[in-house]
Amino acid sequence: NTGAARFLPDDRDLGSLRTAAADCRGCDLYREAIQTVFGEGPSKARFMLVGEQPGDQEDRRGEPFVGPAGRVLDRALEEAGIDRDQVYVTNAVKHFSFTLKGKRRIHQKPTNAEIDACRPWVEAELAVIRPEVVVVMGATAARSLLGKDFRVTKQRGQAVPLGEAVAVATIHPSAVLRAPDRDEAYAGLLEDLRVAAGISG
Ligand code: URA
Ligand code: SF4
Repeated sequence: NTGAARFLPDDRDLGSLRTAAADCRGCDLYREAIQTVFGEGPSKARFMLVGEQPGDQEDRRGEPFVGPAGRVLDRALEEAGIDRDQVYVTNAVKHFSFTLKGKRRIHQKPTNAEIDACRPWVEAELAVIRPEVVVVMGATAARSLLGKDFRVTKQRGQAVPLGEAVAVATIHPSAVLRAPDRDEAYAGLLEDLRVAAGISG
């Protein structure tokens, strides 16, 4: 387990990456999860959204952001005037990490080692799509793409360079669901998405 790099195909497009990622064993997360949840969306997307890792429902369905957090995200995108069909949506870590509580699979934050192991996939997605704007949602995605010193709480909602793209960090949609004041948390997410929407012409 030395990370995803050795599983990347030489010839890279979204199709070849997705196929190769299905067999990734770059860290131990593939052992317990059902499947790799690769990113989804048009290869010419100007917007790329990066979350943490698939949740229980995403792991079952094989698609990112189709569970409760996805519903928060869909609503916020719509309110920010961003068409989800035009957005490439992915995660920093491509397998679901969880602990069992009885029969329930409880989401577990990926470790730094897992984030590092999986980074080659999200970097390859970035290189293929070459988006204009990258929305980085939550601390895991921020660590993966913006480095370990980036603080979402302090630097959210600001345009920061990310290669040839502009990144805007925000909270994770799941954090809205856990927040003591959901409306306030949601309003913050929406505000940051509006910043992102304003960057792309
Ligand atoms: N949370 C994430 O970070 N990603 C998903 O795909 C679903 C929930
Ligand atoms: Fe590979 Fe990422 Fe899955 Fe680990 S989480 S096995 S690095 S795809």
